[in-house]
Amino acid sequence: MNSVTDLKERLRDSKCVSVLTGAGVSAESGVPTFRGGGDSLVWKGMPFEKVSSAEMVAKDLDLLWEWFDYRRDSLKSCVPNSAHYALSKIESKIVNFTLITQNIDGLHQRAGTKAVYDIHGNINRMRCIGCEELFDLAFDAIPHSPTMCEKCGQKLRPDVVLFGEALPNGVFEIGSEAAERSEIFFVIGTTALVYPAAMLPEIARQNGSLLVEINPEETALTPVCDISIRSKAGAILPEIADF
Ligand code: OAD
Ligand code: ZN
Repeated sequence: MNSVTDLKERLRDSKCVSVLTGAGVSAESGVPTFRGGGDSLVWKGMPFEKVSSAEMVAKDLDLLWEWFDYRRDSLKSCVPNSAHYALSKIESKIVNFTLITQNIDGLHQRAGTKAVYDIHGNINRMRCIGCEELFDLAFDAIPHSPTMCEKCGQKLRPDVVLFGEALPNGVFEIGSEAAERSEIFFVIGTTALVYPAAMLPEIARQNGSLLVEINPEETALTPVCDISIRSKAGAILPEIADF
C-alpha cells in the first residue's frame, strides 16, 4: 500500500498525534539548515556549535549577539511555508495535537499552530543573565536593543538554548508526555542528532506509536521509522493534511 494513503487512513482514526520539527521545515521559507549535504553551517570561520555555545555567554556575549542579530536579520523576510500551514491544518482536525519544535524562528506560531512548544527557545526573545526576566525582541530591532535589563541592570542574552545548556524548565516533560501517549509521531526536517530532543521519537516508538519521518534524506532515525517519506515537507504535508 502507498505509505501516504496508509498514513492518511491512520490519521483519520487517530486522536493523539505529536510532531517533532527541525530546521528542514523552515528550509522552504529560506531559513538555512545547520547540517545538510554533508556540511555544517559556518559563520566567521567558526562552526555554529562553537558560536552557539554556553561558554560564549561568559566569553564573548557581544559576538554571540552579533551571530543572533545576523540570524534575526536573515529571518526578517521569511514567512511560513506550506509545511507550517499543513501542520496547523492537521492540528485543527486532531483532538490531542502537540508540536515540539527545535526551531527558534516562530514560524509555526505565525502559521496559526496553537500547541507549539519551542524546545530550543525563541530568537525574538531576550533573557536577563541576572534575574532571568524575559523581554520580547521586535523583528526589526537589529541590532538588538536594549542591551541591559530594565529591572536589574545586568546584561541580556538571547533566550535560546545553547550547546552545553539544559532545556527550559518543563518543556522536555511536555514533549515526552506527548510522545508517550501518541498514536502517530511525526519527525519532520530534523537530523535528530541533538539530545534530548532526539529522545522523543524513541520514547514514542517504545510506547507503541507509529513513527513517521518526512525528510528528503536518510537520518539516524530512518532504521526505526515505520514510514519514511523521502520528500520535502512543504511538498508532501499539504497532501497528508488532506485526510
Ligand atoms: P539540521 O540542520 O541538523 O537538519 C535539517 C534536516 O532537514 C536534515 O535532515 C535535512 O535533510 C532536512 N531537510 C532539508 N530540507 C528539508 C525540507 N524541505 N523538508 C524536510 N526536511 C528537510 O537541523 P535540526 O535537526 O533542526 O539547536 O538541528 C537540531 C538542532 O541543532 C537545532 O535546533 C539547533 C542546532 O544546533 C540549537 O540551536 C540548540
Ligand atoms: Zn535582570
